[in-house]
Amino acid sequence: MGFFKKKHTPPEHRVLPKHIGIIMDGNGRWAKKRRLPRSAGHNAGGKVFRKISRYCSDIGIKYLTVYAFSTENWKRPKEEIDALMKLFKDYLEEALRDFKDDSIVVRFIGDKTPFSDELKALMIENEEGSKDRDGMVLNIAMNYGSRDEIVRAVKNICKGVKNEEFDIDSIDEDLVSDNLYTAGQPDPDLIIRPSGEYRISNFLLWQSAYTEFVIMNKLWPDFKEKDLDEAIDIFNSRNRRFGGV
Ligand code: FPP
Repeated sequence: MGFFKKKHTPPEHRVLPKHIGIIMDGNGRWAKKRRLPRSAGHNAGGKVFRKISRYCSDIGIKYLTVYAFSTENWKRPKEEIDALMKLFKDYLEEALRDFKDDSIVVRFIGDKTPFSDELKALMIENEEGSKDRDGMVLNIAMNYGSRDEIVRAVKNICKGVKNEEFDIDSIDEDLVSDNLYTAGQPDPDLIIRPSGEYRISNFLLWQSAYTEFVIMNKLWPDFKEKDLDEAIDIFNSRNRRFGGV
């Protein structure tokens, strides 16, 4: 399909965040404003996800994590969940078909267990097929919840202690980080939340200890490349001290 192959040149002056997280929020409100079903908002949001992930890769972002489906989103009406699963399937098939010569490394963070066998196979195929690429790492958070991620890390660490792989006193922050889905990746420098909500919604809780948050008054389906540029400019205006002075 050749989505968004155009290259963009970053403005010279700015420091690029190495890792950006995005809570892709506001699809439902976007659809409601247009008297459309919520699924239409997700479809529009899916197009924006393709455009913005391509843009992030083009301007040189090294890691992008997008929140596509949370551990809590299963509470939504079946019709909406089915529409989202269809959207994920279409995207994953398209990514396999059209992005073969792409540099983007596709990873899924979250528990794959509850997804259909077909979707699980597509997720694994995308991960396997892209793992040797050298470009941006795109983490797609699906059935992801940060509390669930931390509970898993705790269980893994306890198993390690029980099996005498290490003792309790050697447990440190690095060991916890190494047991999260994002093991080996830098923490996000910037998390963007469109749609004006001031909430973290169980996204990257451990990893965002010193992340800069930018809340934007825009619904995700209306989000443009220039909005990402604006968020990066706001990030550049922040004075990051990491607890120092
Ligand atoms: C939150 O907005 C959005 C979601 C739960 C779904 C996000 C998914 C996408 C943008 C599609 C991504 C596609 C791929 C292929 C990864 P909301 O529905 O809660 O919006 P609302 O708060 O306005 O109701």
